[in-house]
Amino acid sequence: MNTLAAVEAAASTTTAVAGVRWDDGLVIVDQRRLPTDVIERRLTTVDDVADAIRTLAVRGAPAIGIAGAYGISVGLRESPPGDADTARDEIRSIEQRLAVVRPTAVNLAASLARVRSAAVAAPAASAADVAAAALAEAVRIHDEDRQATLAIGRNGAALLADRHRILTHCNTGRLATGGDGTALAVIYALEAQGRRPQVLATESRPLLQGARLTAWELEQAGIDVRLIVDSAAGAAMAAGLVDAVILGCDRVAANGDTANKIGTYQLAVLARHHGVPFYVAGPLSTFDPATPNGAAIVVEERDASEVTGFRGQQTAPATVRAWNPAFDVTPAELITAFITERGILEPPFDRSIAEALGGAAAAAGAQGRVGVAR
Ligand code: MRU
Repeated sequence: MNTLAAVEAAASTTTAVAGVRWDDGLVIVDQRRLPTDVIERRLTTVDDVADAIRTLAVRGAPAIGIAGAYGISVGLRESPPGDADTARDEIRSIEQRLAVVRPTAVNLAASLARVRSAAVAAPAASAADVAAAALAEAVRIHDEDRQATLAIGRNGAALLADRHRILTHCNTGRLATGGDGTALAVIYALEAQGRRPQVLATESRPLLQGARLTAWELEQAGIDVRLIVDSAAGAAMAAGLVDAVILGCDRVAANGDTANKIGTYQLAVLARHHGVPFYVAGPLSTFDPATPNGAAIVVEERDASEVTGFRGQQTAPATVRAWNPAFDVTPAELITAFITERGILEPPFDRSIAEALGGAAAAAGAQGRVGVAR
């Protein structure tokens, strides 16, 4: 067995429902078909991977990072390079093709860059050595995310004390990450501890990640979940039905401004108005110190047809124009805390984020509580 074959054998997993996994190749659950059909698809070309990410067959910031990372191995199998240098060139070209497919979540470009630099730096005599280094790095990214989600769950469950009525948005669970999820990992941890969380899941228009995916995932896990239309969130808070809002993130800027599924910002405003804590859960791989603030985040705009219809069924006049940003940016000042694998990050976020990311400059001279609880 050569090095590549050994890495491939070790990489393969047989996890049941996972949004993305490596099983002698890249396999995803096609999230476009949920909740009615649970269909796994094997992605065998870079175009397949790009198409799956673009169309949200695989989605969620960590999951697209993992899919992109494995996508490099998919590309090296699709067009096997003849020698190590050609393999490195091929990796750079696959990275460029995949990194641009969805711009907002930092995980996609960051994971691709990580795999590329690990493979380029690896001492490699052959194309197979380079491919082995690339796949090994993708597996590391996947494993790290799996571990991070478990720690996020533990840290969030400890933070919540007796607050167990949670409003969440979009889908942040096993489908969206390499493990239990981000916000949903907290809910799974509460359930595992016998604390019986009660979840209000927003539909998350227009693509219904909450209705199709979160409601399905939580029901599968036997968790108490009720679906609400996005516009019922204010009424739910006003009625005292929400102890905390917990949701995920696609890119957290250095100052704590956070891009997440469209509708997050208005939930943050509502939570502030009603005195409900507003928590953002995410792995540090979704924090981007190179993005100084929310104004620097590129928000993906998607096709108007996602707003004017659903699965080919027209729901608005065919001629009406629509604006369809996939994400919005919540200012840091509306966020109570971040739940990460390194602990709970509290304001001032520029300092607590830098410290959690290992920023020595921010940690030096910090006075009082920096809010990184481990
Ligand atoms: O467009 P999507 O479905 O990929 O958007 C996903 C989200 O906004 C999630 O909240 C975010 O990626 C966190 S998932 C752990």
